[in-house]
Amino acid sequence: MGGLIPDSFIEELLGRIDVVDVIERRVPLKKAGREFQACCPFHDENTPSFTVSPQKQFYHCFGCGAHGSAIGFLMNYEGLEFVDAVEELARLAGLQIPREVTRTARPSAGLYDLLDAAAGYYQEQLKTNPEAIEYLKQRGLSGEIAKTFGIGYAPQGWDRLIKHLGTDEKRLGLLRRAGMLSQGKSGEYDKFRHRIMFPIQDRRGRVIAFGGRALDDDGPKYLNSPETELFHKGRELYGLYLARKSQAKLERILVVEGYMDVVALAQFGFGNCVATLGTATTGDHAELLFRAADEVVYCFDGDKAGVKAAWRALESTLPRLREGRQAKFLFLPEGEDPDSMVREQGTEAFAALLDAAQPLSEFFFDHYTETLDMGTLDARAKLVDLTRPQLEKIPAGVFRDMMFSRLEGLAQHRLEDRAASFRRSPESKPAAGKPAQQRTPMRMALAHLVQNPSLAPQVKDMAAFEGCDLPGFDIYRELVDFCAKSPNMTTAQLLELWHDHPAQSHLQKLATWQIPGEEHRLAQEFRDAVTGLELQWTEARIGRMPKIVDLDPADRETLLSLQQRRQELIDALHGEAS
Ligand code: UTP
Ligand code: MN
Repeated sequence: MGGLIPDSFIEELLGRIDVVDVIERRVPLKKAGREFQACCPFHDENTPSFTVSPQKQFYHCFGCGAHGSAIGFLMNYEGLEFVDAVEELARLAGLQIPREVTRTARPSAGLYDLLDAAAGYYQEQLKTNPEAIEYLKQRGLSGEIAKTFGIGYAPQGWDRLIKHLGTDEKRLGLLRRAGMLSQGKSGEYDKFRHRIMFPIQDRRGRVIAFGGRALDDDGPKYLNSPETELFHKGRELYGLYLARKSQAKLERILVVEGYMDVVALAQFGFGNCVATLGTATTGDHAELLFRAADEVVYCFDGDKAGVKAAWRALESTLPRLREGRQAKFLFLPEGEDPDSMVREQGTEAFAALLDAAQPLSEFFFDHYTETLDMGTLDARAKLVDLTRPQLEKIPAGVFRDMMFSRLEGLAQHRLEDRAASFRRSPESKPAAGKPAQQRTPMRMALAHLVQNPSLAPQVKDMAAFEGCDLPGFDIYRELVDFCAKSPNMTTAQLLELWHDHPAQSHLQKLATWQIPGEEHRLAQEFRDAVTGLELQWTEARIGRMPKIVDLDPADRETLLSLQQRRQELIDALHGEAS
């Protein structure tokens, strides 16, 4: 979605508004030194660990790890989508999101219209097709619910939609881009034929794809639109738009597997249901779900495939279990799905099932202990080894602590000691229970740059780093170039402009590092980090030289100069430290 709004506008917007102002309207802030503080709005706490930096234009909670720009704050606090948050801030700043730019950056406008027309066409077709109507009746769908979900019917024939909408080359091209056509030996034809059609809406209610169910047994039961420029299965949930529309703030959201399940549950009064689109639950899905409601219930079949799918969902959910969020699991008896359950047992019985859903913690530990003989020491050690990497994905907070103490109880031995020696480095002060990343020179250099892009010009030249393949070096070089071009940028602007960059989440983390040291020493500290980086690279090069006996005179000279350089760098670091 970010692509719709030009980056230059995001940069201008973040330059115009003040994150302190945006947050203060919603959370009372207190001045504390150069920053502002409050009790974190994203988790329960009594002492403030939520800070807002006017300089970085960035907020960060040391307790739960929430952080971001003014845009990110609105997304999290108000549950807004990116575009909506930008629109809200633009309004506040009295800025107009450039219209022509919006239009040219949105070549997909015609696609939305086309897909909308297709959905309308299918709905019309349903009205005149007795077989399709009979099918829906026999599945127990009311006319009203079919209308709410825009359910339609794609008629028999190879080119009914093409004839209706693909009237010229341009429209045909749009149908192709929308994923509505299949390619055969003798040309293109309608992808969906003789199927019940479920339009898939994006979060703003626009049709972006379809799912089509066969009326009888030939061919695949469901056909879905392929991935297109509008439709990414891993980021969309069927029914989310309607679920969010059904209530101002959902308390709970239910995730099921099928289109029919969502529709049937809605008909029986559960308007808070969505389905993944024939894919595993992704991290993006989990984030979307928690923006919609604090409690997510995943409902799967009780069979092997269902448990496997549930486990995938659990893994996508763990890193997003911030304070106040919870996830549960409901496994249905074999052979049942939510559609059949709610029809057989009724609304109340299904509601009771939901209330009794298994908490994530239980599902998590049962999953491991079921296959281990917990009476043995070996098994307990194994439990710790298996679970800890998973638990470390949970953001710092009460839930994480609870999971660790539960593990401790199960394993009956102190974990803390082992966890402590696991990753912590002496100079870092991690938030409670959260092992910090080690402060390597690379990470320090990147952290300084992200937090203070105006330091970039301090980097004199990169000659010493020729051929450098230290991990992260590519990012470092790119970041230096980027910051050197606009040294007046704030952290918030930088991160929003890098939002599609593969290193973005890494940089986000570094943006929240507390860099010790005083303001006037920042430049020096940054130079030290760069010196440390060069030292690391120099040592790597020395280590890669051939054995002394194999050295030819030229090598010898290189080695000598490298060793000399190493000494200079060490001296420089020591000189500065004292
Ligand atoms: P199910 O096989 O559980 O079907 O697939 P269902 O939803 O209960 O459908 P009915 O009740 O038989 O009509 C669950 C989901 O998996 C995807 C679809 O998204 C479906 O809703 N699926 C299933 C496919 O994509 N293709 C298939 O062939 C089958
Ligand atoms: Mn079903």
